Amino acid sequence: MHFLITAGPTREPIDPVRYLSNRSSGKMGYALAAAALEAGHEVTLVSGPVAIAAPAGVTLVSVETAQEMYDAVAGLIPAADVAIFCAAVADYRVASVAGEKIKKSEDELTLRLVKNPDILGSARGVFGFGGILVGFAAETNDLAMHALDKLRRKECDLIVANDVSRSDIAFDRDVNEVSLFFADGTREDLPFASKQEIADTLIARIVSLPRGERQ
Ligand code: CTP
Repeated sequence: MHFLITAGPTREPIDPVRYLSNRSSGKMGYALAAAALEAGHEVTLVSGPVAIAAPAGVTLVSVETAQEMYDAVAGLIPAADVAIFCAAVADYRVASVAGEKIKKSEDELTLRLVKNPDILGSARGVFGFGGILVGFAAETNDLAMHALDKLRRKECDLIVANDVSRSDIAFDRDVNEVSLFFADGTREDLPFASKQEIADTLIARIVSLPRGERQ
């Protein structure tokens, strides 16, 4: 099967030297790419700026902004059987990026932000994707409620949810503890494990999901 995976943060410019971003390391998405490759699948990885190398054999498409990630996914998703959206996409970008470095002349500076396109939320309705669709949910509270809401709203087959209020897991760590929420209403809590072990389990669960129902 052909896997399309998004990973890492996005970087939203403020001026030529500054940007807004987040703490995503890309480790989970890169571990998924390695796991899918290991399982014999073809993998295209659309990645924001990260400090880790893509596994050999993966087709890497590097992007910076959410809009660039959206455009890359729009072009690549028709060829995919499975799409896993693991990237921590910035929800907002700066409305008007300064062409020159902003000088600290005023005591206060206000940045106006506008919403970025929702890439996962566009998969079914805008891109017409009929394959297996997997999203991630990073929550600080009411994990199950928010995950189930995302599952339905973004028409996913699976949402992988984790509690980012816990400092021992998730952001920039090599370990994680996730709960899986499937479209058929079932939930599975995976044990605390390395991101690579979690990725291996996820790829096994994903390939065993019923395919083509939406095609
Ligand atoms: N996502 C995306 N494009 C965006 C924002 C999010 O593809 N512009 C994807 C992420 O990769 C992830 C999932 O959507 O798979 C969850 O993102 P999140 O920002 O938590 O979801 P939202 O519905 O935007 O909810 P929230 O109000 O929690 O931000």
